Amino acid sequence: MANESTIDTARNIGPVILLGAPGAGKGTQSKKIVDRYGVPQISTGDLLRDHVARGTELGLEAKAIMARGELVPDRLMYGIVATRLREADCQRGFVLDGFPRTAAQAGWLDAFLKEEVFDKSSEKGSENGSESAEKCPQLVVIQLLVDYNQLLLRLTGRRSCPTCGRVYNIHLQPPLVDELCDLDRSKLVIRDDDRGEVISQRLSAYENQTKPVADYYRRQRRLVAINADRPVEEVTAQIFGVIERHYQDSLLGAGTAQNECQKSESLRSK
Ligand code: AP5
Repeated sequence: MANESTIDTARNIGPVILLGAPGAGKGTQSKKIVDRYGVPQISTGDLLRDHVARGTELGLEAKAIMARGELVPDRLMYGIVATRLREADCQRGFVLDGFPRTAAQAGWLDAFLKEEVFDKSSEKGSENGSESAEKCPQLVVIQLLVDYNQLLLRLTGRRSCPTCGRVYNIHLQPPLVDELCDLDRSKLVIRDDDRGEVISQRLSAYENQTKPVADYYRRQRRLVAINADRPVEEVTAQIFGVIERHYQDSLLGAGTAQNECQKSESLRSK
């Protein structure tokens, strides 16, 4: 059920990808998009952690890989992502947090979206005789750029509540009482992979395997890079701006990402 803030924003925003290094704020910002637009957050990290917690076959295979900070093989990712994207709540759009993470995953996602999202939405539009009303806006990819030292602060300081899931940061967004959740007083926990050498491995997996994903979408002119090295609310405002412009442009048949590519280029070179 939509809350107050989603009432005038509940519409088909299409697929939104948040791309960024570990600690860039993908999870934090995904939740803001969920609150505003009433679309689901699809976090492949959360889906995998859920499999690990339930001890499924996939979870057993992924557990040791995630503990080392490496990427889970592509072949394991496609099934869980496809299953989740086929659920009914994804029809008005969704925000992908943590996927795609390799160029191969990005290619797979393009094919999946074409076949199961965009082609189907234009079929529906022509069945209804209305070209634009049912059409799903094209993919937009928002890259969150954050300085390396700030990423380390965010990852080493992250704590989360095991009861309600709220995320804190002991350096940047501390709870009112040390180590306790403000909402339910549960003792905060550290994520297993937020430790020393695992953090380094995750950051290097990002450099080597996920940065090419940004290049992939830049070549398609779908990438909008923003400065995410700012307070949470400022980053959220930039993201909402990109989504709104993308939505308006998609009604007119233009592409926000195309229009914003040049701005991203200058940010990237800073
Ligand atoms: P995943 O769970 O996706 O982790 P990640 O990408 O490493 O990202 P994080 O969750 O660490 O960071 P985030 O960007 O969401 O930041 P957050 O908002 O929490 O993946 C975990 C593992 O699963 C991977 O290592 C891999 O093994 C596997 N996996 C997942 N997807 C996969 C895929 N597609 N293919 C293969 N393997 C896959 O913020 C971090 C901290 O910073 C918090 O404390 C927060 O409070 C703080 N913060 C956030 N924004 C700000 C701000 N603007 N100012 C100050 N503090 C901030």
